[in-house]
Amino acid sequence: MAISWYPGHMVKARRDAAETLARADVVIEVLDARLPGASSNPMITQLREHRQRPGLVVLNKSDLADPAVTPAWRDFFEARPRTRVIALSSKRASDVARLVPLAATLAPHRDSPLKPLRLMVMGIPNVGKSTLINALVKRAVAKVGDQPAVTKQQSRHDLGSAVEVIDTPGLMWPAIEHPSDGLMLAASHAIGANAYIDEEVAIFLAATLLERYPARLVERYECAVDTIDAVGVIETIAARRGYRLQGGRVDFEKAALALVHDYRSGALGRVSLETPASRAAMVEAAAVAAADVSVASREGNP
Ligand code: G4P
Repeated sequence: MAISWYPGHMVKARRDAAETLARADVVIEVLDARLPGASSNPMITQLREHRQRPGLVVLNKSDLADPAVTPAWRDFFEARPRTRVIALSSKRASDVARLVPLAATLAPHRDSPLKPLRLMVMGIPNVGKSTLINALVKRAVAKVGDQPAVTKQQSRHDLGSAVEVIDTPGLMWPAIEHPSDGLMLAASHAIGANAYIDEEVAIFLAATLLERYPARLVERYECAVDTIDAVGVIETIAARRGYRLQGGRVDFEKAALALVHDYRSGALGRVSLETPASRAAMVEAAAVAAADVSVASREGNP
């Protein structure tokens, strides 16, 4: 599937982010806990490493992610140098209250009004940066929306006299290496609706659910999971809900959208689209496939 994006405002956002990062003490990278690998922007990691800033990884929306999987992601990111990890829901004040004290441990020398702790919140669109900022500031200073990239400019807020937080626009990177990452991002609405095909995203989602959470498909749609494939899941949804086009054909698109909506809203329960192990296997398979293509082209085979 060809996913194409990289609007001009993201080029500017990247440039602005690099400038601001030079003045920040801790980078807070907000990830979607349901897809922490796919929602981790390699450009943010590069910018942070270039400036040698410590990082606090926030596994946000952990209320929607599988609680059996999130701890493995915590360990995965904690293994990075100068990195701490917190899994939370930005919609829970008690979760958000744990964030600043943890960030402060990464820059203990910044602890007074003269040397305020400067936190920079970064992340791709729709991972919950604005929700987190509003919860930190305790009022609605950032616009929350389920449409990707609603925050267009950086803004700075004081959290008391010794802590500042800088909100930055959602930052994507120009080339997503693995197609499954693009599909996970589309399923989770990090990428706008014109960058992907709904049916393709739904088929990917159905395949993932069949493999990892078949009982949820049985429970919600009464799918015969032992005998159907991903397309069959969507056809079952259409049949169960009576989604038909004129002439009686199955309305596949409507059923596909229903599945994606149910995943996004949490109606399918707490689902993680990837684990550190599934990601490692996917990356390894992609490397093997790339090596095969390179050998074939050296040998003159198409
Ligand atoms: P962004 O700034 O990174 O682009 O994301 P934003 O805060 O706008 O959040 C995107 C959507 O994700 C919003 O949904 C927001 O409510 C939801 N969200 C953010 N953090 C969490 C979380 O920890 N848990 C859950 N369950 N959802 C979260 P929305 O549909 O636009 O808004 P709403 O109907 O939820 O208000």
